[in-house]
Amino acid sequence: MAETTPNHTQTVSGWAAHDSSGNITPYTFKRRDNGVNDVSIEILYCGICHTDIHYVKNEWGITRYPVVPGHEIVGVVSKVGREVKGFKEGDRVGVGCLAATCLECEYCKTDQENYCEKLEFTYNGVFWDGSITYGGYSKMLVADYRYVVHVPENLPMDATAPLLCAGVTVFSPLKDHGLVESRGKSIGIVGLGGLGHVAVKFAKAFGHHVTVISTSPSKEAEAKERLGADHFIVSSNPKQMQGAKRTLDFILDTVSAEHSLLPILELLKVNGTLFIVGAPDKPFQLPAFPLIFGKRSIKGGIIGGIKETQEMLDVCGKHNITCDIELITPDRINEALQRLANNDVRYRFVIDIAAATSNN
Ligand SMILES: NC(=O)c1ccc[n+]([C@@H]2O[C@H](COP(=O)([O-])OP(=O)(O)OC[C@H]3O[C@@H](n4cnc5c(N)ncnc54)[C@H](OP(=O)(O)O)[C@@H]3O)[C@@H](O)[C@H]2O)c1
Ligand SMILES: [Zn+2]
Ligand SMILES: [Zn+2]
Repeated sequence: MAETTPNHTQTVSGWAAHDSSGNITPYTFKRRDNGVNDVSIEILYCGICHTDIHYVKNEWGITRYPVVPGHEIVGVVSKVGREVKGFKEGDRVGVGCLAATCLECEYCKTDQENYCEKLEFTYNGVFWDGSITYGGYSKMLVADYRYVVHVPENLPMDATAPLLCAGVTVFSPLKDHGLVESRGKSIGIVGLGGLGHVAVKFAKAFGHHVTVISTSPSKEAEAKERLGADHFIVSSNPKQMQGAKRTLDFILDTVSAEHSLLPILELLKVNGTLFIVGAPDKPFQLPAFPLIFGKRSIKGGIIGGIKETQEMLDVCGKHNITCDIELITPDRINEALQRLANNDVRYRFVIDIAAATSNN
């Protein structure tokens, strides 16, 4: 059992990695008592984000072991602190990447708390009471209500879970660039994984022309037929890449591994924007020429604010957008992480937490 601070009296079963082998095993730990601003949540489902792999294998060099991953959490409220507003027992709720922020800075005050300097994450973070945060690969979570959102009644809980990270991470840049309201732009999505497949669904639902740029020719048929993409380019095919030069207004890069930006930048029209949300562990090489000859911009962003996360879920409720998932029992987490690392998932693993037996 893990060492924790004195206010941590609630025993919780979960699953953790203990070293950079990334192997996940059952793990019992303590969570804080339900404070005045907290809700306790019985976790039903938790998505497996590629970020979980970066952490369990310490690919970014910042992991505090043992790490209980998971920041695509949905469940049902089981306890409500007395200062909590807007939530009651039995509510269907979600928690994403945010566990704590300063609540006072200009970003916290303008619903951009995801850019707060004091941001602490749902796992591998340090909460206000000094304890290390543990994520959603577990049966119960205590969360400050200011970082909790409502799941629309018409959305299934399992396929909604990945929206809490993957969904808002791709929704936020589309909104920031006016692409939720305007229609008819040409948008490129690089990498058709967990983030990428939701991005295609959003961009199509918002009325845009969507090109997927992928390393996997095997994903073409489903990208077009199931997800509704208009074009599919294999990034290793120079002829296809050449043919698509200067065709896109906006590109969202969701790739988790090292890759070259030059050919991607060349796909942008003059004044186009490449928005990076994927987080490879190695730095990019940034070529000057495609920027200066095309007046192009590169920027990046992290998830979205809480208000924006609720807005994204409400939009999903309206358009009936959920993720394409493979539901697994907790005893298959290691297999799922391995398959995700091998780019073998359509398009998100989700853990059925309630399906845990006493042995897993
Ligand atoms: N900024 C944020 O707030 C935020 C939030 C969540 C996640 N992330 C990061 O976003 C990245 C993607 O997460 P995810 O959960 O969507 O991962 P994922 O499901 O593994 O998808 C990543 C996709 O990238 C492509 N890819 C993989 N290796 C590649 C390579 N060597 N070269 C080119 N393309 C490659 C694959 O698509 P194709 O088969 O189509 O090529 C793969 O499906 C991760 O780095 C994650 O940490 C960032
Ligand atoms: Zn994530
Ligand atoms: Zn702040």
